[in-house]
Amino acid sequence: MRESKSGDRDTAICDSIRREADRLRDEIRYHNYRYYMLADPVISDVEYDRLMERLKQLEERYPQLRRPDSPTQRVGAGPQEQFDPVEHSPPMFSLQAVYSEEDVRHFDERCRRELGASQLNYVAEPKYDGLAVEVVYEDGRYVQASTRGDGQVGEDVSANVRTIRSVPLVLNPHDGVEVPPRLVVRGEVYMNKEDFERLNQRRLDEGEAPFANPRNAAAGSLRQLDSEVTAGRPLRVVLYDVAESVGISPQTQWEVLNEWLVGWRLRSPDEPARRCSDISDALQYHRELLEGRDELRFEIDGLVLKVDRFDYQEELGFRTRDPRWAIAYKFPARRATTQVRDIQVQVGRTGKLTPVAILEPVSIGGVTVSRASLHNQSEVEKKDIRVGDHVLVERAGDVIPYVVKSLPERRNGQERSFVMPDTCPVCDSGVISSDDNKNTRCTSMSCPAQLRERIKHYASRRGMDIEGLGDRVAEQLVELKLVQDLSDIYSLDADDWMKLDKIAEKSAQNLIEAVQRSRRRPLRRFLHALGIPLVGEHTAGLLAEEFGGLDELMQAGQEELVSISGIGPEVADSLRAFFGSADNREVLWSLCENGVEPLSPEEDRDEAESRLEGLTFVFTGRMEKWTRREASELVRELGGRVTSSVSDRTDYLVAGPAAGQKLQQARERDVTVLDEEKFARLVGPGS
Ligand code: IVH
Repeated sequence: MRESKSGDRDTAICDSIRREADRLRDEIRYHNYRYYMLADPVISDVEYDRLMERLKQLEERYPQLRRPDSPTQRVGAGPQEQFDPVEHSPPMFSLQAVYSEEDVRHFDERCRRELGASQLNYVAEPKYDGLAVEVVYEDGRYVQASTRGDGQVGEDVSANVRTIRSVPLVLNPHDGVEVPPRLVVRGEVYMNKEDFERLNQRRLDEGEAPFANPRNAAAGSLRQLDSEVTAGRPLRVVLYDVAESVGISPQTQWEVLNEWLVGWRLRSPDEPARRCSDISDALQYHRELLEGRDELRFEIDGLVLKVDRFDYQEELGFRTRDPRWAIAYKFPARRATTQVRDIQVQVGRTGKLTPVAILEPVSIGGVTVSRASLHNQSEVEKKDIRVGDHVLVERAGDVIPYVVKSLPERRNGQERSFVMPDTCPVCDSGVISSDDNKNTRCTSMSCPAQLRERIKHYASRRGMDIEGLGDRVAEQLVELKLVQDLSDIYSLDADDWMKLDKIAEKSAQNLIEAVQRSRRRPLRRFLHALGIPLVGEHTAGLLAEEFGGLDELMQAGQEELVSISGIGPEVADSLRAFFGSADNREVLWSLCENGVEPLSPEEDRDEAESRLEGLTFVFTGRMEKWTRREASELVRELGGRVTSSVSDRTDYLVAGPAAGQKLQQARERDVTVLDEEKFARLVGPGS
């Protein structure tokens, strides 16, 4: 009797816990959809993390509640030996590429002639610069993903694609849209430009060679045998094709994109594609996209034009590898060849020597390129880049230009190989190189180049954000010996500042105030700003979270450091060496003496969460630094509210260029109007 009673109670508890877990999963899926698909989240990151944390807790405590399709299961599954083959049926075709309006018109004429149609609708889609994938759902559940391979047979990358947050693990279609028992969709894995730049920065911080462009970064990340590595990479997927779907029969490509894929919540309704009523319309869209290419958040390398009607597509059929009803109208390449005039060596803040190619200036996509980092000696050797060589240079988005390769067939024998100098080009001290030649450093502690770069890094926006302390100022502070270590920045008075070129009373005062503000920045930014070798923003964030304070971190032993997920033995060594140095400890001590007191992660969060509490924002017009969505998210994270129209309750209108009616309304109501810069200042440093 007793037993059965407690059994009942257990079942009851289990039921309520199971319901909670189910509800959390549904909720998190919904927020994933809002965030990754609609780019319009309705809760803050902190709230999202809380839901996720709670679900993880439940699944850990009650393993029977775990589900392979739970949102918690995106962490990666550990290494595998190889990728299994996956057959594609129908095959994954490629596209014929053309580069001129004339060729596009020929394509249109041919299609119309063969179909006997006087006019044809086309769907024009961006040609996403990533790599093709196929994703399979069975009974609405994610079961498999594969690469294109040779089109017939690809590789099974299910474990990797599962870690990509924009791929739902369970389909949750809009009302009324049915999900076929087996659904095969296709699209592209890619990386946003901004995410790509952040990833590269991290790689550079950690002493690794950066990726050449978002496409290579996406490919390298997707084809990892260890899906945990993929999980840490900011990949996205956009879907544009349904290859198999028993029971539904869409009539057009436009319907596939906007009714089915959007209906299954596999595609954002905002994804750019245009239905064109004729080929001129499509050509017009190509011009618009080419013009607006830099404003897109992802790289595209052209436009894909598809005959809209499926019965027409069927009639036109296929050549061996390409459909005859679609074409890729590519943009001019963002690559160019030029000549290496010289290879110079720069000294960074940690004393690292970096070879830089000085190029014969060349215009790539409207930007003149005259320098490109070659990263380290090993890269120069691997690519065999010599002074005088012709080289292929690529510029992807706003990224630093990249030397893809040298063109040895164009050598005339006059070229000179590069040798890393054995003394520092700035202070003449000796240098040391690592065995693999990826790291060469100046050995002097007092090298002025290092000090200058350290100051620049310390004061930079992503560091302690000392407004006004840029390159020129840092250079002079070192030259005039006003600053000999970082702590000296805090003891400069107005007279000192005014010794610098073009700094009068007003600017001196501004600098003093900016320095004052930098005394209380979050610990993670302080750790990054110190310029400890191998410790970039990401690692600094991990350390700040783990230790909470500088003293705790300084006391941490090797073992404790490597026990932190994301901190390897090399980073730990570097930290130990940095904090072990008496000189560094003295600088840290003086920084403290001078009132530098980093905020602990809790203080940082408290401060951040309430910074905009009770304030209501409206956005209008264009912004440069953020998308509207990012700005709104930021406001919410800081405790504020965002609404879409100006009312008496509005506190701020943030107005970019091309602001419309809302600006007028705000003025009538005496609402404070902020431009982007003022807004940036209000939301605070590092945002
Ligand atoms: S349609 C039969 N649409 O371009 C249809 N492809 O050069 C074939 N791609 O392998 C693909 N964006 O990886 C299509 N909107 C888009 C695309 C796209 C990028 C890639 C895809 C394909 C390659 C063909």
